[in-house]
Amino acid sequence: MTADVFVTRQLPEPGVAPLLEGGVEVDYRDDDSGCPVAELRERSAGVRGMLTVLSDRLDAATMDAAGPDLAVVANCAVGFDNIDLAAAAERGIVVANTPDVLTEATADLAWALLMATARRIVEGDRLVRSGEWRSPSLVLLLGAPVHAKTLGVIGMGKIGAAVARRGAGFGMPILYHNRSRRPEVEAELGAEWVELDDLLERSDFVSVNAPLNDTSRHLIDAAALARMRPTAILVNAGRGPIVDEVALVEALRSGRIAGAGLDVFEREPVLADGLAELDNVVLMPHVGSATTETRAAMVRLTGENILAVLAGREPPTPVR
Ligand code: DGY
Repeated sequence: MTADVFVTRQLPEPGVAPLLEGGVEVDYRDDDSGCPVAELRERSAGVRGMLTVLSDRLDAATMDAAGPDLAVVANCAVGFDNIDLAAAAERGIVVANTPDVLTEATADLAWALLMATARRIVEGDRLVRSGEWRSPSLVLLLGAPVHAKTLGVIGMGKIGAAVARRGAGFGMPILYHNRSRRPEVEAELGAEWVELDDLLERSDFVSVNAPLNDTSRHLIDAAALARMRPTAILVNAGRGPIVDEVALVEALRSGRIAGAGLDVFEREPVLADGLAELDNVVLMPHVGSATTETRAAMVRLTGENILAVLAGREPPTPVR
C-alpha cells in the first residue's frame, strides 16, 4: 500500500511522531544522505504529501512522478529555492516552509561567523591545539574590531532584521539594502536604507540574508567585491549562489577584502577551488538553523503544514 507521506531524509526529534499522531501513513527514509532523484521519484509515487529538505530538487518531473494525488510539499527550511513554485501551482500542489521558528538561531549563526572571522577564532583554536603557541604576544592574531563598526545587511527580512538587531547591541550603525523599505526596522534600529553599491562601500561587515531568486543570484560578484573595503568582512548565512564563489576566493586571496564567514556555498557540499586553503575564512556546513530547539520546532511545523493540507485546511505557513 502506498504511504500518505514520503519523508525524504532523516529528521531530528520529534521525527515523524507528529505525522503518525496525525494518523497518516509515513514512508520514512531514515537516512541522512541526500535522496537520489530516482529514489525520490519512486518513493513519492502515489503519495499525498512530501516532507522535503533543501537537498531535494522538486521540479515538474518529480511532481509528475508523484502523481495527481500529491497535495502538499512541505519543506523543512525557510528557503524554498529547491522547489519549482510555478510547477507546483500549475498542479495545484500547496508548498509550505518553516519561517519564524528559525529566525533567531540563524541570526545567531551569522553573528557567530562574523565574530569568529573578525577575531580569528578558528586560527586561534588551531594554534592552541597544535602546541605551537609560545606565550601571550602583542602581535599575535590581530583581528578586526567589531564594536561600533558599520554593519551592512543585504536582505532585510526577518533574519536580516534579527542580524541587524544584534549589531545594534554592538553599537553598530546599520545600513541595509532590500527591495522595499522597512520603516519599522528603521524606527527600531535607526537603520538606513541605501543602494547596494553604497552599502558595499560604507560597511565594515556585510551580511547576506536575502532569499535566492533570479535577482539575487551572483548579486555579490567580482564588481561588488571590488567595491568593498579592504578591511571588510563578508558573512553569508543566506544562500550560497548569491555570492560568486570563484570571485570571492580571488578577492580573499588577493586581500581585496579581509575575510569571509560562510555557512552556505554555491554548489554544496563542493567548494570553489582554493576556498578551503584560505586562512581568512571561517566555513560552516549550512547549519544556520541547527539548534536542538529550532530543528524540533521546524520538524513540528512541517508536520503541521502537511496534516493541515491533508485535512483540507490552510497550512500554518504556506509559501505564497
Ligand atoms: C533554511 O531554512 O532555508 C536553511 O537554509 C536550512 O537550514
